[in-house]
Formats: sequence, structure tokens, C-alpha cells
Amino acid sequence: MTKEIATFIVNGGEYEVIVEPHMLLIDVLRDKLGLTGTKYACGAGDCGACTVLIDGKPSFSCLTLAVTAVGKSITTIEGLADGAELHPIQQAFVDKGAIQCGFCTPGMILSTKALLDENPAPTRDEIKSALAGNLCRCTGYVKIIDAVEVAAETMRNGGQGS
Ligand code: FES
Ligand code: FES
Repeated sequence: MTKEIATFIVNGGEYEVIVEPHMLLIDVLRDKLGLTGTKYACGAGDCGACTVLIDGKPSFSCLTLAVTAVGKSITTIEGLADGAELHPIQQAFVDKGAIQCGFCTPGMILSTKALLDENPAPTRDEIKSALAGNLCRCTGYVKIIDAVEVAAETMRNGGQGS
């Protein structure tokens, strides 16, 4: 099996990593780069806990071969806050009580970011549809949808949205 040095662009930084062809993106992020905000649960594309953005699109990092993400722009939950200031989506999840155990939260927030980048004023049904691939065992979803609405409003009103 051939190892190669590949350059990953994660949260705006470039990282050289030795990868093998079978290696998954989640393993590069968590084990090679120490970005443990990305969570591993089902490993099968069923829960969304491992969601990251690849060129702005929500992607299951547990199903993504690392080599396919080389050279693309990868965003993890660690890339959202601006120093000590939470991203408006993160702040809204905190304020609305949309986080309980927090295991689903990074994936939920990244799916939300992809939604709001494309659709700044989604309906509740559009929010449900955008988050359909992200499961939460704790919250019952209502507070998550409330949080997305608050985040959308904050971002529309000029809150940090990068
Ligand atoms: S861990 Fe990737 S979808 Fe569940
Ligand atoms: S807050 Fe626990 S799984 Fe969503």
C-alpha cells in the first residue's frame, strides 16, 4: 500500500500529512491534525456526527477517502469561532439550549452553516430538510430549529457569518 505526503487545506491552513489510500478524512482530521471536534459515531453515513464542509458542502468525513479531499477547502467546527468569539450559529445553539450532550452539535452546526450560506432565510421545513442527515438523541430537534432561525436572523442583520 502506497503512502504519500498530501496537503490538506483545513480551516484556512495548509497541513502536510502522510496518508494511505484507504485512510478516511475523519482519521486525518482527528488523529493526524488533532481536530477532535469532528465526532465519530456510526461510521456508516447514518448519523451526521462526522459532518464537515468540503468546498462548502456538508460531507460525511467517515465515508470520505482522505485522498479525495486533498487540495479542497475543508471546514471543521474548530474553524468557525473568531478567537474567543463564537460564530453566530454556535452562539444561537448555546442561547437556545440546542446543545445537551453536544455529540451531534459540530455536525449540526456545519450543516446549518452550509444551509445559511446558500439560503439566509430558510423556512422551518427547509431547516428540517437541511438537517435531515444529522441525528440528535437528546434535544427533540425543536430547540435546534429555533437556534437555526435565530442564527439566520443574526447573520442577516450583519453578525459575523464567515
Ligand atoms: S459517523 Fe459519519 S455519518 Fe455517522
Ligand atoms: S445534543 Fe446529544 S445527540 Fe444532540
